[in-house]
Amino acid sequence: MAYASIHLIFFIFLFPIHALAQNNGTVAVGRIITANETSSPWLSPSEDFAFGFQRLKDCDMFLLSIWYNKIPDKTVVWYVNTIDPVPRGSKVELNSNFGLVLRGPQDEALWNSEFTSNQVDHGFLNDTGNFIIKGGSDKRWLWESFRLPTNTLLPFQELETGSRLISRQSETNFSRGRFYLRFRNDGNLVLATGSVLTNVDDDAMYYESKTSDPLNSGYRVIFNSKGTIFILKKNNETQILGPVSTSVSTSENYFRATIDFDGVFTMYYHPMFSTTNSKWSALWSMPDNICLSIKGERGSGACGFNSICSLTNDQKPNCECPERYVLLDPNNKYGSCIPNFTLSCAQVEPNSTDEEVYDLTVHDDVGWPSASDYEIINPSNESFCRQSCLQDCLCAVAIFRNDSCWKKKLPLSNGRVDIKLKGRAFIKYRKSDAPNFNPRSICPPVPPVQERWKDRITLILVGSVFLGSSLFVNLLLIGTTCFGRYLIFWKKKIMIHPNTNAVVETNLHCFAYKELVEATNGFKEELGKGACGVVYKGEWQKSSRKIIVAVKKLDRMPRDAEKEFRAEMNTIGQTNHKNLVRLFGFCDEGQHRLLVYEYMCNGNLASLLFCDKKPRWNLRSQIAIEIARGLVYLHDECSTQISHCDIKPQNILLDDHYNARISDFGLAKLLATNQSSTLSGIRGTKGYVAPEWYRETKITVKVDVYSFGVMLLEIISCRRKVDDIESGERANTILTDWAWDCFQEGRLDILVGNDFEALEDELKLERFVMVGIWCIQEDSTCRPTMRKVSQMLEGIVEVMVPPCPYPFSFTSQG
Ligand SMILES: *[C@@H]1O[C@H](CO)[C@@H](O)[C@H](O)[C@H]1NC(C)=O
Ligand SMILES: *[C@@H]1O[C@H](CO)[C@@H](O)[C@H](O)[C@H]1NC(C)=O
Ligand SMILES: *[C@@H]1O[C@H](CO)[C@@H](O)[C@H](O)[C@H]1NC(C)=O
Ligand SMILES: *[C@@H]1O[C@H](CO)[C@@H](O)[C@H](O)[C@H]1NC(C)=O
Ligand SMILES: *[C@@H]1O[C@H](CO)[C@@H](O)[C@H](O)[C@H]1NC(C)=O
Ligand SMILES: *[C@@H]1O[C@H](CO)[C@@H](O)[C@H](O)[C@H]1NC(C)=O
Ligand SMILES: *[C@@H]1O[C@H](CO)[C@@H](O)[C@H](O)[C@H]1NC(C)=O
Ligand SMILES: *[C@@H]1O[C@H](CO)[C@@H](O)[C@H](O)[C@H]1NC(C)=O
Ligand SMILES: *[C@@H]1O[C@H](CO)[C@@H](O)[C@H](O)[C@H]1NC(C)=O
Repeated sequence: MAYASIHLIFFIFLFPIHALAQNNGTVAVGRIITANETSSPWLSPSEDFAFGFQRLKDCDMFLLSIWYNKIPDKTVVWYVNTIDPVPRGSKVELNSNFGLVLRGPQDEALWNSEFTSNQVDHGFLNDTGNFIIKGGSDKRWLWESFRLPTNTLLPFQELETGSRLISRQSETNFSRGRFYLRFRNDGNLVLATGSVLTNVDDDAMYYESKTSDPLNSGYRVIFNSKGTIFILKKNNETQILGPVSTSVSTSENYFRATIDFDGVFTMYYHPMFSTTNSKWSALWSMPDNICLSIKGERGSGACGFNSICSLTNDQKPNCECPERYVLLDPNNKYGSCIPNFTLSCAQVEPNSTDEEVYDLTVHDDVGWPSASDYEIINPSNESFCRQSCLQDCLCAVAIFRNDSCWKKKLPLSNGRVDIKLKGRAFIKYRKSDAPNFNPRSICPPVPPVQERWKDRITLILVGSVFLGSSLFVNLLLIGTTCFGRYLIFWKKKIMIHPNTNAVVETNLHCFAYKELVEATNGFKEELGKGACGVVYKGEWQKSSRKIIVAVKKLDRMPRDAEKEFRAEMNTIGQTNHKNLVRLFGFCDEGQHRLLVYEYMCNGNLASLLFCDKKPRWNLRSQIAIEIARGLVYLHDECSTQISHCDIKPQNILLDDHYNARISDFGLAKLLATNQSSTLSGIRGTKGYVAPEWYRETKITVKVDVYSFGVMLLEIISCRRKVDDIESGERANTILTDWAWDCFQEGRLDILVGNDFEALEDELKLERFVMVGIWCIQEDSTCRPTMRKVSQMLEGIVEVMVPPCPYPFSFTSQG
C-alpha cells in the first residue's frame, strides 16, 4: 500500500498544476513518461482514468497500465501482459511512427503498439478508460487499448470474435494466469482453463454461451453504458449474460468486469465519490459454481492438483489441501498440493504391512470426478473399499458411493466439495510412527565424470577385442541389477480387477477407393513421405461440412500384415486423445490400403525445431508435455496398449494452435520391416531407436520412452540427434552424449545456447534435462514409464538426479 499513498500524496500535490494545464485528455506526439514515483501519468478529461506506470507492491518494478485514478487503490484496468513489468527508469513515448513505444532504462525496445505506415497525430485518453491513437490524413483511430484487452472489460467496451481476456497469476502478480474468457471465431463465448500459449480450451471449458449457430452466431460481446454485458448476434438479437436487472446506478458508480485470477468472471462496482471504506463489490459473476463447472480430462481444475475446491459465499473458489498434504508453492494457495509423506510402491518396508504404515482420513461429500480413477469395484461396501485402498500401494484415494468403490491415483484433478455426491472419500496418509523409509537403489550410482570417461576408454579397448563377451557381460549386469526390482513386483499382492473396460464403439468411416481419389483430386497435392507411404491433402465432404484431410497411402505393406489391417484399424479407431492425430477412417479395398487423418496445418515438430529461428522455450516445453501425455494415453489408457515404435520429431504434428499431436501410432505392427533403418527387424529410425532393439532383449513400450528422451533433448536444445555443434570443431557430436556431458558439468547454458528464456526458467530446464537423461537410460528397466515422465515434466513428482545413461556400453549408438 505504500506506493498507493505516495501516489495519492503526489496526486494531491500536483493537482493545481494539472488544473492549470487544463488537461483535456490529449497527448501530443513526443510526450514521454518515465517509470518512477515522481513522473505524472496522462489523464482523461474527467481524470477518472490515468495512463502511465504503476509501481508494483512487492518489488521495484513498474507496470505500464491504465487505472482508475480517483479511487484509493488505483485499480488497474489495462496492462500489457505479453511483457514482464519493467524496471525503474523505463520510458513510454508517444512516437509519431509506432504509436506507443516502451523502452527499458538502457533504451532497449520492449514493446510498441504495432501498427504500420500511418503518421500519428495525437493520443487521447478517453473518459471511458480507452487510450486511443489518432492519425493518418483523416485522424482515424489507429489503435485503441480497448482492442487489446487484458483481464478487464469496461462499460463502452466491445469484444470482437477472436479476442480474449486472460486472468493474471495472482492478486499481485500480473503475469498471465491460466483462465480465459475467449470470444471464439465461431461466435461462442467461453470460459476455459488452458495453456496460454497454445489456446487449448476445448476440454477444460467451464462456461459457454452456445452462440455458435452458423446462421446466427455471436458477433460482438458488448458491455453497455447501463452496466449490462450481452452478446449481439448477427441478426441483431441479443443474449444477455448479466446482470439481468440491477438497482446499482451507473452514474454514481464505476463498473468493471474482470476475469479474476481464480477464474471467476465477475462484474464489480465501486462508488465514484469514494470514502476511505468504499471498495469494489461484486454485482454478478459466472459461472455459478466454479468448483463444479470445470470438468475436462486435462488440467487441475479450479484449484491445483490434489487440492479440494469449495465455494465461498461470494461465488469464489476456496482451495484447500487434504490433510497431510502441503502446498507445492507455499505462497500460492491456489496451486497444487503434494503429500507430506512418501507414497510409493517401490518403498514397501520388508518387515511391515501396508496397514502398519498407512492410514486413511475421511472426508464427506468430497469428490474427484475425472481421469484419476484406475479401478472401480462394484458392488462393494465401505469397509472393503477402505481396506482395498490401504493394501494397494497405487491407491492414493478411494471414494465410496452408491455401493461402488472408486480407487484413484495421483495426481488428482478437479477436487471439489459437492454435497450432491452423497459419497465419502478416504485419503491415504503415512502414519507418523511408521518405520523409516529406505529408498532402494536400483540403478547404478553415478560415477564422477573423469572416472566415467576413463571407464569408457577402457571399455572401448576391451570392447573392440571382446565384443561378444562384452555384450554377454552387459546382459549379465542388467540381469543382476534388475533382480531386486522384480522381487518387489512379485511381492505385491494381486487385487481383484473387475473388468472396467467398456466396449468402445469405433466410429471410423470406411472409404471407397474412388471416394478418396476424388477427395484428393487424383492424389494431386503431396504433403509428405513417411516410412509407410505418401501423404496427400484432400477434402472430405462429411454430411454438410467440408473437412480438410490428410490421406496416407500405405504402399509397402508386407503380405501377412493385410490380415492385421482391420484389427489394427479397430484399435486405432478406439483412440481419442487431444495429443493424437485423429483417424477419420480408412480404405481397405483390393490392394489399396489408405488411412484418412485429420489435417494438421502447422507441419511437424522437426521443421519447427530445426529452422533458423528457435521456437520459444515455453512453446517447446508445452509441446514436450503434450507429447508425453499422448504417449501416456497410448501406453496406459487405451483398451489395448499401443507401442508407437517410431517416435521422432517428424512424427509429431502441430495443429493450428500448435498443440502437439502424435501421428503414425498403431502402425508398428503393420510394418514388419522399416525402410528408414538398415538393420532388419528393427522398427524405428536410427538415432531414436532404443538399444534393446540391437540386443534382442525383450521389446517393451520402454522403447518409446527412449525415443521420447532423445526427442526431448532435441526439443530442449533445438539440435538434431547428431549435430555439427560449434562450427565443425566437434563435428558429428551425438546429442545424447553431449547433453549428458553438459549436465554433468553443470553447463546447461551451453546445451540451450543463447536461449535466455530457457535459462531463466532454470528449474524447469534442469528438470527437463534430467527427465531426458532418465529416458535414454540404456537399461530399459531404469527408464521411467511415460506416466512418470509426464508427471516429472509437469513438476508433479520430483525428479532424482539421473545416473549415467550408458553405464555398460563401450560406445553409444548414434
Ligand atoms: C487540448 O489541449 C492542448 C493543449 O493543452 C491543445 O493543443 C489541444 O488543441 C486541446 N484539444 C482539444 C480537443 O481541446
Ligand atoms: C523521474 O523521472 C523524471 C523524468 O525523467 C526525472 O526528471 C526525475 O528526476 C525522476 N525522479 C526520480 C526520483 O528519479
Ligand atoms: C470516447 O469514447 C466514446 C465511446 O466509445 C466515443 O463515443 C467518443 O467519440 C470518444 N471520444 C473521443 C474524443 O474520441
Ligand atoms: C509471477 O508469476 C510468474 C509465474 O509463476 C513468476 O515467474 C514470476 O516470477 C512472478 N512474479 C512476481 C513478481 O512474483
Ligand atoms: C442490425 O442493425 C443494424 C443497425 O441498426 C442494421 O444496419 C442491420 O441491417 C441490422 N441487421 C439485421 C440482420 O437486422
Ligand atoms: C509435514 O511433515 C513434517 C515432517 O514430518 C512436519 O514437521 C510438518 O508439520 C508436516 N506438515 C503438515 C502440514 O502436516
Ligand atoms: C525384519 O525381520 C527379521 C526377522 O523377523 C529381522 O531379523 C530383521 O532385523 C527385520 N528387519 C528390519 C529392518 O526390521
Ligand atoms: C463387504 O464386501 C466383501 C467383499 O465383497 C465381503 O466379503 C464382506 O462380507 C462385505 N462386508 C459386509 C459388512 O457386508
Ligand atoms: C447407483 O448405481 C446403480 C447401478 O450400479 C445405478 O443404476 C444408479 O442410478 C446409481 N444411483 C445413483 C444415485 O447414482
